[in-house]
Amino acid sequence: MTPEPTRAQIESEAERLFSRGLADLGYTDAELLRCARLTWKINALKKLKDAVIPVHVYQRAEIIHGVADFTGDSYKLSKLCAQADAKRIVFCGVRFMAETAKILNEDKEVLLPAAEAGCSLSESITGEQVRRLKAKHPGAPVVTYINTSAEVKAESDVIVTSANASKIVAKMFEMHERVLFLPDELMGRNLAKALGRKLGSELITWKGRCIVHENFDAASVALYRKMYPGVKILAHSECSPGLVSVVDLIGGTGDMMSYVEKTKASSYMLITECGLGDLARTRFPEKTFVPMCRLCPHMKATGLERVLRALERPTPAQRVELPRELCARARKPIERMFELAEDRAKE
Ligand code: 13P
Ligand code: SF4
Repeated sequence: MTPEPTRAQIESEAERLFSRGLADLGYTDAELLRCARLTWKINALKKLKDAVIPVHVYQRAEIIHGVADFTGDSYKLSKLCAQADAKRIVFCGVRFMAETAKILNEDKEVLLPAAEAGCSLSESITGEQVRRLKAKHPGAPVVTYINTSAEVKAESDVIVTSANASKIVAKMFEMHERVLFLPDELMGRNLAKALGRKLGSELITWKGRCIVHENFDAASVALYRKMYPGVKILAHSECSPGLVSVVDLIGGTGDMMSYVEKTKASSYMLITECGLGDLARTRFPEKTFVPMCRLCPHMKATGLERVLRALERPTPAQRVELPRELCARARKPIERMFELAEDRAKE
């Protein structure tokens, strides 16, 4: 049975959400009270059920500030999930992230509240297509972006995230003349340019695209710089090479947040999914953020009601199940990423 909060408990929870900056993001008092009732119940139930709630930075603010045990980019979440000691993981993010948590925690119950939350990159390639690419390019290591299914990971040599792709692909080139980088075409083009490698012959990529990041373009960047003198423009590495060539930083969401934290600029523009800007506004209320973002329908499919349902009585679709043999094969390239990403010997 889920405990029910009293009126006083709901009001005190709403005050906590207010203190986290939700009102500044536009939440009305009525919305804060509605969220507070749910976050109170989720937090009570998560203790009773011995669950942890990892939350990606693109998730809604009421989830990040209301119920998250940890928040971060794909790398940080996969690392922390690997260390989680609770019985259950309720993953607020998209399927490839929850699958990664399951691969690293086979014996735990992993729940994905928004069971249908996919990712256009993950859906762009299958295990069979990777097998065909490997047959076409024998000997080339398969470096795979974490935004892929467990089946695709299982066919890979090493997984990367936006936080370490450049470092790991560079390492692969120390040992190989040719590298397969899957499935993000734009990130592949950005990497080839940054590492001085020929696209198509040295760095072979796939035709996957992020439906959010492929739509930003470079055309208005000069205009924004005029409108907001001194603005620092940061773009996610899934954006196009044209855009990437005119911004101040290209990187993952973790890189963007640490750039904002460590610099003092008149304003910042975070070219990525809108959740990151919202999080930055609450974390750095003294800084100015110029709006420039798009919503990811997959990331925004998670709501508090679904998180509560997953904890109370998960639907079969909310339970992430993967065959043991597949987990074992997919775990190896993820563990290789942990080793290579944290190898500081040559830095
Ligand atoms: P990050 O790992 O940079 O948070 O990226 C995840 C993602 O889905 C980007 O669109
Ligand atoms: Fe996938 Fe793009 Fe959404 Fe990230 S923002 S989950 S890459 S579709």
